[in-house]
Amino acid sequence: MKSYNVGIIGATGMVGQRFALLLSKHPWFNVKVVAASSRSAGKKLKDAIGNKWAMQEPIPEEIGELTVMDATNDVEKIASMVDFVFCAVNMKKDEIKALEEKYAKAECPVISNNSAHRGTEDVPMVVPELNPEHIEIIKAQRERLGTKRGFIAVKSNCSIQSYVPALHPLRKYGIKNVLACTYQAISGAGKTFETWPEMIDNVIPYIGGEEEKSENEPLKVWGKIEGNKIVNATEPNITTQCLRVPSSDGHMAAVFVSFDRKPAKEEILKLWKEFKGVPQELELPSAPKQFLNYFEEDDRPQTKLDRMLENGMAVSMGRLREDKQYDYKFVCLSHNTLRGAAGGGVLLAELLAAKGYFD
Ligand SMILES: NC(=O)c1ccc[n+]([C@@H]2O[C@H](COP(=O)([O-])OP(=O)(O)OC[C@H]3O[C@@H](n4cnc5c(N)ncnc54)[C@H](OP(=O)(O)O)[C@@H]3O)[C@@H](O)[C@H]2O)c1
Repeated sequence: MKSYNVGIIGATGMVGQRFALLLSKHPWFNVKVVAASSRSAGKKLKDAIGNKWAMQEPIPEEIGELTVMDATNDVEKIASMVDFVFCAVNMKKDEIKALEEKYAKAECPVISNNSAHRGTEDVPMVVPELNPEHIEIIKAQRERLGTKRGFIAVKSNCSIQSYVPALHPLRKYGIKNVLACTYQAISGAGKTFETWPEMIDNVIPYIGGEEEKSENEPLKVWGKIEGNKIVNATEPNITTQCLRVPSSDGHMAAVFVSFDRKPAKEEILKLWKEFKGVPQELELPSAPKQFLNYFEEDDRPQTKLDRMLENGMAVSMGRLREDKQYDYKFVCLSHNTLRGAAGGGVLLAELLAAKGYFD
């Protein structure tokens, strides 16, 4: 496989730091540019991050030495230095929308972790194992933007990365209703216990905008390309409650589901075990070998024990049982800054690279 020069936009942030770690040893992608706000621009990345470095491993040496560029004012220059960028910034939604389009129009593809473009009809929102075919909409998006190379592709919100993969292989039974309560780690807010001590011994029953995303985004992932847009699925009916809980990394979900045709428990377990997507078939470098993993033990998966399964790229399920109101209930878990953010972004970029979208 060819190798590509890449940039990290938002490199000083929580997701940006994850990108730096994941890309420091990547076989295809070399980090040539790091960028953030004007507050950080001009400093070495390691100095701009300083004591905000929130990862267990130290900052990768070569990337830490790069000088931070200005993400909003150096767009043309950055676009000329790299083949594409990963973007994870904390700005107003309309500012992010405009910034990502500016990169795309400068012929620099954008793999985005931000929510700004998730609702844009010709921007694919891809979980590579579930809807890889949605990248074909990029042709229509390039026509709209008037670009040859530039485009925007996004990954979905971290909250849906556990229950949507678990439900995906079960769609053939006609999923009718889904209720999901999520228990989300503080790194999902770009925070640690040092920067958010109020979260110690606490649960906050509100995460701004999260329930709307958790209910609507699965319908885009399960949507279909029609002409020059992706048309959302109309089913299932999804309702959610999203809580912030005192864990550092890892989003858990308690899920209740009913079907048009109720499958046997063994059928569900078999479908989970046998499920493989395009990333597994193509053996993409960041793809987990076993994407969906079921734990038989009643007290698994646990956030602390199981979030790093397959380098944080696998999804874990447990406690599948029949329910009095719905057909079944179960719990599931995924790592929010790996599978749910930077890792999911890197896997999407690998899929796009393998399919020739950066050439
Ligand atoms: N954390 C997660 O688990 C997660 C999961 C999925 C998606 N996301 C999404 O990813 C994005 C980043 O999240 P995060 O948790 O990494 O946030 P974060 O830790 O607050 O980092 C934000 C980044 O944005 C940069 N930034 C802020 N204002 C800017 C500006 N005006 N111009 C250019 N850069 C600017 C910051 O640079 P400075 O340091 O210079 O201010 C920093 O690099 C958000 O859209 C978030 O919703 C996060």
